[in-house]
Amino acid sequence: MCGIVGHVGDEQATPILLDGLRRLEYRGYDSAGLAVHGSNGIQIVRAVGKLRNLEKALAAKGLPGTVGIGHTRWATHGRPSEVNAHPHVAGPIAVVHNGIIENHLELRAELEANGFTLSSDTDTEIIAHLIHRETRAGHDMVTAIRRSLERVDGAYAIAVLSEKEPRRVVVAKSASPLVIGVAKGATYCASDIPALLPYTNEMLFLEDGEIAVLEADGFTLSTLQGTPLSRRLRRISWSPVMAERAGYKHFMLKEIFEQPRALEDTLRGRLDRELADVSTPEIGLSEDDAKRIQRVILLACGTSHHATIAGRYWLEELAKVPAITELASEFRGRDAVVGESDLVIAVSQSGETIDTLMAAKEAKERGAKVLAIANVNGSAIPRMADASFYTHAGPEIGVASTKCFMAQLANLLMFSIWLGRRRETIDEGLASELIEGLARVPHVIEERLPGTLEAVSEIVQDFSEARDVLFLGRGLSYPMALEGALKLKEISYVHAEGYAAGEMKHGPIALLDAHVPVIVLMPQDRHYERVSSNMQEARARAAKIIGVTTAGDTQGQALCDRFVEVGPTHEALSPFVTVVPLQLYAYCVADHKGTDVDQPRNLAKTVTVE
Ligand code: AGP
Repeated sequence: MCGIVGHVGDEQATPILLDGLRRLEYRGYDSAGLAVHGSNGIQIVRAVGKLRNLEKALAAKGLPGTVGIGHTRWATHGRPSEVNAHPHVAGPIAVVHNGIIENHLELRAELEANGFTLSSDTDTEIIAHLIHRETRAGHDMVTAIRRSLERVDGAYAIAVLSEKEPRRVVVAKSASPLVIGVAKGATYCASDIPALLPYTNEMLFLEDGEIAVLEADGFTLSTLQGTPLSRRLRRISWSPVMAERAGYKHFMLKEIFEQPRALEDTLRGRLDRELADVSTPEIGLSEDDAKRIQRVILLACGTSHHATIAGRYWLEELAKVPAITELASEFRGRDAVVGESDLVIAVSQSGETIDTLMAAKEAKERGAKVLAIANVNGSAIPRMADASFYTHAGPEIGVASTKCFMAQLANLLMFSIWLGRRRETIDEGLASELIEGLARVPHVIEERLPGTLEAVSEIVQDFSEARDVLFLGRGLSYPMALEGALKLKEISYVHAEGYAAGEMKHGPIALLDAHVPVIVLMPQDRHYERVSSNMQEARARAAKIIGVTTAGDTQGQALCDRFVEVGPTHEALSPFVTVVPLQLYAYCVADHKGTDVDQPRNLAKTVTVE
């Protein structure tokens, strides 16, 4: 959480830093600030709330200078306030930080005992004072930072300015992400790629335990212990336009509408229709490896976790391999059984979620092979994994994940088909049917998107005041029900539960009355009849039923008070179409209520705290 940016060059830093923060605001948005090195030394402006408040403050007090750092905050230590906003200053040092310093209480006590006065409640201010103490002892900026970071336990990506070395920004990282961008006459840093896209596509991902000195003509890289390093820059293929709203009211709506393209890009080059097979050389498993896998463990959080539940069902059915899903935060620290015969698949849009990263690391240390499914090239989880199978959804800015979820589903299904072919558990006929069907899915979604938005927004007029909503589904529709409920909670703050339809009678049925809408996913699959019975049970308790039905399914539609139609697909492909009306339902309720769709309260896009 939190976003940091930095710039060293010849142009004015403030507009560049502000633009970068705007593109990182999804990472945190409860306060923001800049520090710029100008002719009168380092000057700071900070403001509570969204970035527009910082912009107003800057309009009143300009920050001239060409070297600077910026921060947008998601509070961990200390409430959102101007004094807790970054940058934090100690003597000639200004610091922005993303992460958590675990031993901050001990360090705070030590600094206070040494006569330092701390003015905020944050852990970050401690880093500024540690560096200040080292510079006072006569060390240059890089040595002072190295020596200070030796004292620090926890996660950090920091960018530091010093009045004593005015043409530099120094960055270092451990666990939290940091990208360096290089252009002609300017060097940048940021927590994430989109902040740098308007300026350069040439980037380098800092690794844990590395420190870099940014100057206008490039950067030098070394370990925190002082060993010089040299690594080639990576060329990032995303364009700045991909990270713009392109006329849509919200990023989330744009990203929902981008799903056909995100799917196409993710499937491209991977579906071999002639051989009824999937081509995934990047997963780094031989035919023998595929046969030897005893179990697949799918690790993820939030929406990515919901994708893994569908992945589990596909793996079991198509590759006949035992598969389990684990919430990454629960997998860690409980001594879960994992070993060499397991394949761990870590799924993450950002590739930076700390729970998923640490859980996958733990599994790797115990001998499991780790395959990453991530959307951000070169992010921490793929870097740590044995192999990576990227989704190609493009940058996702809305905090509520949509198109990346869709792309994760595609990779999990493709992997299941690939594994099934190697283990000879899926015949050519079925593989061919699924591959043909999957290739058509982008079109099936695209042709219905405008109509679905219209239908859903009309339904929402009648249900937007509901305080509780239940989502039901069976089989592959169960994880979609979970996802529908999460989307609604995240952006509209309406209480929602996703339930396996068969579980309703074991508890949640007690909640039902005329005020609780029940959204039922009923594709025409093997569960259809039983789901219809569950709908009848809900109707008998006066609940209003909103059905997600296959186009033309008049029998199912007759059981609904309202319904939305999705295009017909093979039953194994139904998640790709049924989730779309649920995303739109959450979007329309939030838009109707006027909540902040792209930056919902208390959330951040990339969760780098445990
Ligand atoms: C999705 O809408 C959520 N914002 C959240 O649950 C997210 O999926 C979760 O934090 C995991 O993120 P990741 O995919 O980047 O690891």
